[in-house]
Amino acid sequence: MWIWKCVSVCCLLWTVALCADPELEEEELRARTFLQHINGVRLEEYQRLANAEWNYQTNLTEPNKKHLLDTETVIAESLKKQWDEVIKFKWQGFRDNDIKRQFKMLSILGPAILSEEKFQRNSKLVSEMQELYSTAKVCDYKDSKKCDLALNPDLESIIRTSKDPEELKHIWVEWRKAVGQNVRQMYKEHIELDNESARLNNFTDTSEYWLSDYDTADIKDQIEMLWKQMKPLYLQIHAYVRHQMRKTYGDLVPEKGPIPAHLTGNMWAQSWEHFFDQSKPYPNKKSLSITEEMIKQNYDYLKIFKTAEEFFVSLNLTAMPPQFWEESMLQKPTDREVVCHASAMDFFDGKNFRIKQCTQVKEEDLFVAHHEMGHIEYFLQYAHQPAIYRGGANEGFHEAIGDVIALSVRTSKHLKKIGLASGEDDPESDLNNLYFNGLSKITFLPFAYVMDLWRWGVFSNDIPSQDYNCKWWKLVEDYQGIEPPLDRSEDDFDPASKYHIVANVPYIRYFVSYVIQFQFHRALCIKAGEYVPNDPSKPLHECDIYQSTEAGNVLGKMLQMGASRPWQDAMEVVTGQRNMDASGILDYFKPLQDWLEAENKKNGVFIGWEPSKRVCSSSRNDNKPSEE
Ligand SMILES: *[C@@H]1O[C@H](CO)[C@@H](O)[C@H](O)[C@H]1NC(C)=O
Ligand SMILES: *[C@@H]1O[C@H](CO)[C@@H](O)[C@H](O)[C@H]1NC(C)=O
Ligand SMILES: *[C@@H]1O[C@H](CO)[C@@H](O)[C@H](O)[C@H]1NC(C)=O
Ligand SMILES: *[C@@H]1O[C@H](CO)[C@@H](O)[C@H](O)[C@H]1NC(C)=O
Ligand SMILES: *[C@@H]1O[C@H](CO)[C@@H](O)[C@H](O)[C@H]1NC(C)=O
Repeated sequence: MWIWKCVSVCCLLWTVALCADPELEEEELRARTFLQHINGVRLEEYQRLANAEWNYQTNLTEPNKKHLLDTETVIAESLKKQWDEVIKFKWQGFRDNDIKRQFKMLSILGPAILSEEKFQRNSKLVSEMQELYSTAKVCDYKDSKKCDLALNPDLESIIRTSKDPEELKHIWVEWRKAVGQNVRQMYKEHIELDNESARLNNFTDTSEYWLSDYDTADIKDQIEMLWKQMKPLYLQIHAYVRHQMRKTYGDLVPEKGPIPAHLTGNMWAQSWEHFFDQSKPYPNKKSLSITEEMIKQNYDYLKIFKTAEEFFVSLNLTAMPPQFWEESMLQKPTDREVVCHASAMDFFDGKNFRIKQCTQVKEEDLFVAHHEMGHIEYFLQYAHQPAIYRGGANEGFHEAIGDVIALSVRTSKHLKKIGLASGEDDPESDLNNLYFNGLSKITFLPFAYVMDLWRWGVFSNDIPSQDYNCKWWKLVEDYQGIEPPLDRSEDDFDPASKYHIVANVPYIRYFVSYVIQFQFHRALCIKAGEYVPNDPSKPLHECDIYQSTEAGNVLGKMLQMGASRPWQDAMEVVTGQRNMDASGILDYFKPLQDWLEAENKKNGVFIGWEPSKRVCSSSRNDNKPSEE
């Protein structure tokens, strides 16, 4: 009797013998050959695309743009043909999980599904928005005839260093005028084309397409849950910073309201470490001025990247190949316009891996260099995989690797080792240092979340185009507790002042990365014997995994998997966990959280924020005459 039952439901014991379908088995054999072919074709196409993208982004000319768009169009045609073949296979029934996985990935066609005309139009819109962003110039505050200030290095430098609120406001507003207003119509058209593409791919909208990378049905709920876990920590640092800011800027900063965006030391208020000097917990403790040390020691772009490479090599990971040093763009060229936004590129030939970064000799760029080199290390480690698997376990993993290394580098222990810091080792300096890391990491979380919450809303049409800007500020206020320095309206388009919006790069990957990098860090530190839970002499935030081959080998094992396994498997290799979990970041910042809670309480500081007094209206003409 039970045998009959088995035939119909394929019970465990009898699966192989009774459920095999000879026809399907033969098809699976054909599928194997087909995959070899497709992976070969893909490699060649990815190579061509990488070359065309590199040439354009490091040399913004019309011929280079045309060549990129032509290459994209030809490859889209080819992808469409490949996809027609892919869907002829009954891959859902295959028994080999690896073959099934590759087919599942190949069965999502993406933007190539659009008609050639619409595909080209969409690519052109994104290139042009990016170009506008990369070449925009604004006028100086003090010298209004000087109108050649670029975002990198000029505007970012002013926002970072100036403490004149009027100058900061000027730069903040002018940058948004130069980019935002000019791309609004283009952005709207681009969103509509993306929407059509997502729907043709059978996704409800573009956010479902973007998030398909995680292959996790409730990913949006998981993100929200992670944020809720971390929010109490954010509220403490937000309240503390606002309180300190009032000492510098007085009533420009409301006692109980949101923090004004232009005073945070960052163009997008995405991280606040440039407000460190004015706000550190122990002001009399000399803090690490890494930038000063770097300048004193004649660091240049090359030394920055060699320093990063040395750390990877110390972990028994791979050094950068010769082509990396010959072909990368590690400085801003003076003879042409380029996209300065730092990035790393895989040329899919096993030899060419490059970074483009308009490197300056400063602390931030030292860590960006580690971040970008983390991408290259991932490329190198999974270079033996078939083309379709040459990617991160999910997009968040790719962003996390270099940051994990940087978490060790940023400890005073390590900075002393490499001669970039000296001075005392005491609990107060230590807390200052942890606070610095909090200004860079904790403040970033709600920013990263808002970037995609806004776009998810745009994609689903919950945020229609006539509400783009005001809904943006609503989210910024609700999640970040940040307000603009002046009233805004729908004549402005402030989201576009950020590169990833105009370049159409999803952002939740950075949120995920900021959560999981602390899970990785904690696990690797335990492997390296540098962190012992509940041992106050070895706290997580002072752990340095430098020269730990135990840590490096387990990290390497995960990197080598690329996208060949579900991300949960990759995560398990390093952490033993199969989920994203905020306990890593919360463990790391526990001493800071305790200190902030006590300090805020002692000073009677208001936690959270009351509604902003800034208004966002449908058109500037609707605004009441400004009192300013
Ligand atoms: C930039 O691209 C143009 C073609 O548009 C080419 O002639 C020129 O040599 C390139 N410059 C560099 C430095 O590669
Ligand atoms: C979308 O679904 C329809 C109906 O199931 C199917 O015919 C079509 O091939 C699917 N398109 C894509 C791109 O998967
Ligand atoms: C370094 O990595 C290689 C392979 O990647 C491995 O064979 C070797 O044992 C590792 N060395 C150490 C000291 O762990
Ligand atoms: C996407 O397309 C659907 C169907 O055409 C439409 O109902 C929806 O409003 C569109 N969304 C956006 C953001 O344009
Ligand atoms: C993740 O999994 C661990 C068990 O490995 C569990 O203790 C923890 O609660 C989970 N966290 C989340 C956020 O699901």
